[in-house]
Amino acid sequence: MTNFRTFILGLAAAFGLPWLCLIVLPAMQYEQLTPVAYDKDKDGLEGYFPPAPINGQGQLVYISEGCNQCHTQMIRPVQLGLDGWYKGWGQDQEARPAAPARASVLADYLGEKYALLGIQRIGPDLANFGWRAPKVDALYQHLFSPRSVHDWSTMPAYTHLFNVKKIQGPPSENAVKLPKKFALPEGYEATPTKEAEALVQYLLSLKKDYPVPGQGAAVAASPAKK
Ligand code: HEC
Repeated sequence: MTNFRTFILGLAAAFGLPWLCLIVLPAMQYEQLTPVAYDKDKDGLEGYFPPAPINGQGQLVYISEGCNQCHTQMIRPVQLGLDGWYKGWGQDQEARPAAPARASVLADYLGEKYALLGIQRIGPDLANFGWRAPKVDALYQHLFSPRSVHDWSTMPAYTHLFNVKKIQGPPSENAVKLPKKFALPEGYEATPTKEAEALVQYLLSLKKDYPVPGQGAAVAASPAKK
């Protein structure tokens, strides 16, 4: 009988301890987070971290479409000098200062209803997509027909986020622009739905490499830019 008791206790510890350390404690830590003020002298910035909220309405579309099955929003810390995870995932894109993105911190997800860390890295990490995003038109094109942007893309086409209809009168201004090879039949156009609009605003609001207060101005850009 004692063996059985030890077995049950061992089982409880084997599941209970990881649950406590990996779920309960981080959740409690997250609940206690509040926006942190930047220190003008040390950080050289004013206001609060994180400076800009993400688009909550669009986040719901992102969740319901399952985008986080393929896209992460979490940049791993650099360990043992091994990097490679984060180059090209942040502000180090064309037209941005050549500063590498930093690893994600808990407060990056502050104010978000869900922290969408993601499940698999099938597509690029989107934690900082807002910095490298193309024009809104190009984003609609990508969502409507990923293959028309990259012919090797394995991303599904989210055509159901658009209204495909016969052109009545003058063509809509926000109709998706497609290259000839992918064009809709003559006389038809695709316009983004409210969901697609919210989703694009959400993608543009993803800029999770703002400088962390107290870590110096390691990341060059100021949140006021762009
Ligand atoms: C089956 C996996 C898969 C799913 C689901 C998926 N994507 Fe992708 N996504 C990819 C792949 C692969 C790429 C890279 C190829 C490309 O650019 O099309 C990509 C690229 C992207 C890019 C460009 C990223 C960059 O750094 O340039 C964006 C933005 C994007 N996806 C948004 C979304 C959104 C929003 C959804 C949900 C509506 C979604 N993806 C669902 C696989 C996926």
